[in-house]
Amino acid sequence: MDQKLQYFGEQITKGELVAFPTETVYGVGANAFDAKAVAKIFAVKGRPSDNPLIVHVSSFEEISKVASSIDELSKKIFEKFSPGPITVLLPKQDTIPEIVTAHSPLVGVRIPSHPIALEFLRAAGVPVAAPSANKSGKPSATNHTQVIEAFGTELPNVIVGGDASFGLESTVVLAKDQKQITILRQGAISQEELQNAFPEVNVVIASKEDLQNAPSPGIKYRHYAPQAKVELLSMDVTETQLQTRYEQLERTGERVAVLCSIEVKAKLPTSLTIIELGTEQDLHSVAQRLYAALLEADATGITRILIQMFPKLGIGRTIMERIERIA
Ligand code: TXA
Ligand code: MG
Repeated sequence: MDQKLQYFGEQITKGELVAFPTETVYGVGANAFDAKAVAKIFAVKGRPSDNPLIVHVSSFEEISKVASSIDELSKKIFEKFSPGPITVLLPKQDTIPEIVTAHSPLVGVRIPSHPIALEFLRAAGVPVAAPSANKSGKPSATNHTQVIEAFGTELPNVIVGGDASFGLESTVVLAKDQKQITILRQGAISQEELQNAFPEVNVVIASKEDLQNAPSPGIKYRHYAPQAKVELLSMDVTETQLQTRYEQLERTGERVAVLCSIEVKAKLPTSLTIIELGTEQDLHSVAQRLYAALLEADATGITRILIQMFPKLGIGRTIMERIERIA
């Protein structure tokens, strides 16, 4: 085993925090069995205590350390999408402290697919509770340098792993009666992918009202917010309209940036400040760049972001859910 990952695994068993890469975003982890260690996560993030944490394990067999039982449909979800960017809510084991689930009887369980994450989890030898590695209310870190920028010396243990491949968090789901899968948080796996995998099951996105009454209390919080004010560009905005708006804002003293695909960028004058998202040909590339682009805008002192909208289909729906939330 990698010497460094061995070291970070030991840090976990000693009750310390470790930031680690996953295929979605970076996580900041602690031993899920150790309430004191988990409390450090809430402190360092400034996270409200009623927002539960996802518990990460390295294999299907390990789920039994965390969950007291697993129904047939949840099992099939793991078989189909794990290791990967899906989190399934299951009845929690008594050994998981209440602080992890914010007193809920359900625990979110995820098997990440990132090879470093898996090796780190094996080195730790215990399930690792981990939210995204950002200060509460900020966009999630998708690269180790963003983790270091966000926490500095408050979080000395950061595993280097480059860019996360998905760039958006895992999809959080709850299976019910073998008949329904409720998406509590939209994420890297789209509703369409879930529906295609389980044609006989009803796959629904939880409504705002559903979420107000839990079971995913965290989702009511305003997430993913950059410092800059964010303005949505309508789908059919012309280059001239965009440029007019840009200049109007600049005249009022705003520092403006346009966040758009490479296709839109190609049509705009090079005098504008543009932060590139990916290509419209593959919206996964837009997902992968979204948080990094928002953080880049903040880091360069942008006060106003004009952001392109994308079709609400597949991963585009998750992208738009995040964009509408920050705007
Ligand atoms: O991709 C991801 O999911 C990343 C990586 C690190 O795994 N983690 C992540 O964690 O995004 P976090 O804490 O930023 O978001 C977890 C979401 C929150 O909205 C929380 O409310 C929900 O999952 N959640 C976690 N445990 C839950 C539970 N027991 N019941 C209901 N919702 C839960
Ligand atoms: Mg988060």
